Amino acid sequence: MSTDRTAPTGVAESGAPPPAPVLSKLLKDGGTIEPVREILWGTSAGVRKYETAHEIPEEMRKLIIRLMVVQADTEFASIQQHRPWLDKAPTLEDRWIEARIVADEARHGLQACRILKDFGKEGDAYIDELLAKPEGHHKLDAFNMKFDRWSDVGAFTCFVDRVGVYQLRAFQECSYGPLARAMPLMLSEEQLHLNFGLSVLRRMAKNSGDYYGDKEEAQASIQKWYPRALDMFGHSNSETSRKAIDLGLKRWTNDEARAMYIKELTPMIEGLGLHLPPIDFDRHIS
Ligand SMILES: [Fe+2]
Ligand SMILES: [Fe+2]
Repeated sequence: MSTDRTAPTGVAESGAPPPAPVLSKLLKDGGTIEPVREILWGTSAGVRKYETAHEIPEEMRKLIIRLMVVQADTEFASIQQHRPWLDKAPTLEDRWIEARIVADEARHGLQACRILKDFGKEGDAYIDELLAKPEGHHKLDAFNMKFDRWSDVGAFTCFVDRVGVYQLRAFQECSYGPLARAMPLMLSEEQLHLNFGLSVLRRMAKNSGDYYGDKEEAQASIQKWYPRALDMFGHSNSETSRKAIDLGLKRWTNDEARAMYIKELTPMIEGLGLHLPPIDFDRHIS
């Protein structure tokens, strides 16, 4: 593999990011999607992406490890949260989707651990720690809370998994190739979780009495999970998020991603006749 890290002609000088990936030929005609090989944003825009752990600068190595440890921790924690509902979900289809979600989260945890594994003994030590972590001892508050009722399952998947999607979208086409390439499948799997969460809330809001939980319970779970979901984006003035953008790892600041999330969610929840609490309601991190 070439280790030439010079910028392709004409890209670095202009300072503009290279164009989006081109469909050289339609997939249905046997074509392929051209992979994006250049870093698209940050201080090294236009230079070839990093493809192996050993070529990554120290600062970036530390950050990728930190991001992947948090990522894997949330995936494994959510399995512990969902587990009691595998055979308590109200309908057979709900049970099947719960099982599907747990399988997906296990795969996402495995994917993050595979990236950690590329960092040798240091990565292995983190994996051992992650796999031994008991319920209630995870990094983010949202993953230490229980699903006390079915509406919590709906609100968690609608709100907390959706933050996860914003975090994954921020990694799309990032400067570390193996991480960038893991995103499309994870994102398509997460879409099921989001849709399911919204459908649970919708069934509660619209068919009060005919389903497992009513509109009041749905609203109570929104009050419980929405503040923890907003916290997950992190501090407004986070140095780490600024650094992650400079290194081409993340696309958006915490505040930018949080604002997009609120904008997407507001009409969705109001459309169900439910509402979001104010942005500063019950917040721990701002
Ligand atoms: Fe996940
Ligand atoms: Fe998920």
